[in-house]
Amino acid sequence: MSVDISSLSLEDKVKLLAGIGCFGAGCSRRVPGAAGETRAVGGLPAIVMTDGPSGIRVEPNPFRRWPTTAFPVPTMLASTWNPELVEAVGRAMGEEARDYGIDVFLAPGMNIHRHPLCGRNFEYFSEDPLLTGKIAAAYIRGVQSVGVGATAKHFVANDQETNRHVIDTIVDERALREIYLKPFEIVVKEARPWAIMSSYNKLNGKYTSQNPWLLTKVLREEWGFDGVVMSDWGAGDNPIEQVKAGNDLIMPGGDNIVSRLMDAVKRGELSEDEVNRSAARVIELVKRSLTYKGHKSSNTPNLSEHAKVAYEAAAEGIVLLKNARETLPLRPGTRVALFGTGQVETMRGGLGSGHTHPNHFINILDGLRGSELKVDEELSSIYVNYVKERRGEDYLCALYYEEAYAEPLQQDILTEGQVGEFARRNDVAIIVISRTSGEGWDRKAIKGDYYLTDSERRLIEMVSRQFHALGKGVVAILNIPAPIEVATWRDLVDAILLVWLPGQEAGRVIADALVGKVNPSGRLPTTFPRDWSDVPAAKSAECYPGVPQDNPRTVRYCEGIYVGYRYYDKYNVEPAYEFGFGLSYTRFEYRNLTVAKSEDIVKVSFDVVNVGKYPGKEVTQVYVKAPQGTVDKPIQELKAFRKTRLLNPGEAERIELTINVRDLASFNASRGLWIVDAGEYEVRVGSSSRDIRLTGRFTVDKTIEFKP
Ligand code: BGC
Repeated sequence: MSVDISSLSLEDKVKLLAGIGCFGAGCSRRVPGAAGETRAVGGLPAIVMTDGPSGIRVEPNPFRRWPTTAFPVPTMLASTWNPELVEAVGRAMGEEARDYGIDVFLAPGMNIHRHPLCGRNFEYFSEDPLLTGKIAAAYIRGVQSVGVGATAKHFVANDQETNRHVIDTIVDERALREIYLKPFEIVVKEARPWAIMSSYNKLNGKYTSQNPWLLTKVLREEWGFDGVVMSDWGAGDNPIEQVKAGNDLIMPGGDNIVSRLMDAVKRGELSEDEVNRSAARVIELVKRSLTYKGHKSSNTPNLSEHAKVAYEAAAEGIVLLKNARETLPLRPGTRVALFGTGQVETMRGGLGSGHTHPNHFINILDGLRGSELKVDEELSSIYVNYVKERRGEDYLCALYYEEAYAEPLQQDILTEGQVGEFARRNDVAIIVISRTSGEGWDRKAIKGDYYLTDSERRLIEMVSRQFHALGKGVVAILNIPAPIEVATWRDLVDAILLVWLPGQEAGRVIADALVGKVNPSGRLPTTFPRDWSDVPAAKSAECYPGVPQDNPRTVRYCEGIYVGYRYYDKYNVEPAYEFGFGLSYTRFEYRNLTVAKSEDIVKVSFDVVNVGKYPGKEVTQVYVKAPQGTVDKPIQELKAFRKTRLLNPGEAERIELTINVRDLASFNASRGLWIVDAGEYEVRVGSSSRDIRLTGRFTVDKTIEFKP
């Protein structure tokens, strides 16, 4: 029997607007441990939804586990600057959802890295809207290619965790459209996600889930979105306003919401047309689902195949921040002294709904043990025993659940004499610095979180002193969810490998990067400032109220469009590591730039040549500097990028990229128009936002204006 809006009773249609009511994990009857379901009504089955975005998260219970692959966190996926690879990750996640009977995946997270301390930054991609949009579009295409729906979240301006359920984000329309809405606009137009999740926060005074301007005018009328908008779990305070605004599905919903909506219809506060509009969208979502199509879940996802995808993604997301005197790669047989508890308690992901439950996890110590490096076992056993003693025997199970575990352990548990002894009998030191973060709380600008603890600093100083005295190198591995302070200690070490939260294959990938089987090709999707106080949002507590005790009710996006590199460039603030930065074991040269403009598009082509000693991939980045026109502009903005294929020494690749002229526009809020000023534009092609290798020009003859 074909079900449509006309075959359902009013009550059934209203029931479709509210999910099955419960909070947290375990809200699904069919897949207990999934995050929620819609209601089965009038011949339509319930469809199941579950979290991401670092992998499919189905919470285990005492009777059953749903092992899934723990992929690198989204910030690391963005560090690959490789949409094809991210699409493969999305496909693998989609397959795992499909195989466990899940219809809609609650990912990707697409908020902006406005501030390095946002607790969920790891779930998001970048400080840049284009990179976020393109990587997210690839992710969504991958998930949906197997018939599972993706959900772009959290729409919008939910860029911090403090008071997230009530905070009112005050942001001007230009910044909103150019920075925060832009990634969602890109995915709606390029990847057509089945669903969008509205966020918890208010936007300029109104909950996003109750905001008709956002959910109907911008999302549907301007961009043409034709899927379902669902609320975040428990968002907003008025279900009637939610449905009126175009928030079709209220999650996790509950009978109480159904009754409130029914009463509103009876009282005439909510029209049957409004119910029909949203119910029709939910019906379409259900009809697209695998469950509706009668798919039987196998319950046997191809985890071994997906482990390879997780490995590849991590391999391309590692960022080499420093490599003085070619400390890396290490030769096979190098004797390695591994310092820091992070070798044991390696953080594979973040906490909260973005958490994962893989079948296996390889920490840094085990990864190095399985490599051609010779780990100093006596030294590592000191850390293994120390972690066991401090965390208890079951630490490996408990780890990743509790906020308490985010607290770093004491790191300088060795005497200077002991370190000196380890320096004598090894060739190189590797120090692991680990952090995690999670949903529900922001990171803090304190020692042990954004800053090193005193004991971490003492460890780095001691190890550097002892190893450098013998002419031996020191490598730091940063196993972190988002930037930490590096400027005051990076001179003490010779090499820094940023491995983010790299997922289940962590140790294997890191070992391969250390020995050069993997040549790091990740680039920063987000700036590392010299200090968190350099972040434009840190200028006043009003602009980033990260202190829950203050119970802030508003956050003002004081910096407007000047987020990330847009700010550091414009205001001449030197970052520790700029947007787009990352080294390689080899070197690349850029040659033969041509820029050709037709009416609507600009074609940018150039050669990249590997002039170094190792095979490697380069991330080419194209920034555009606009002329001085009617609108105030950043110094430059990322407009295109492409990662090369693996180039052998001496090999070249011609990169050809296209920029739409309309994508050069800025938003003039008072006139309600996008404007591309006439004048001469500079094309800046480089290896990072501050390492521009080639420049060219094109001219826009006449100012272009268009409506959103
Ligand atoms: C999170 C969402 C998540 C939902 C369901 C909320 O607390 O903000 O990202 O999808 O829970 O678990």
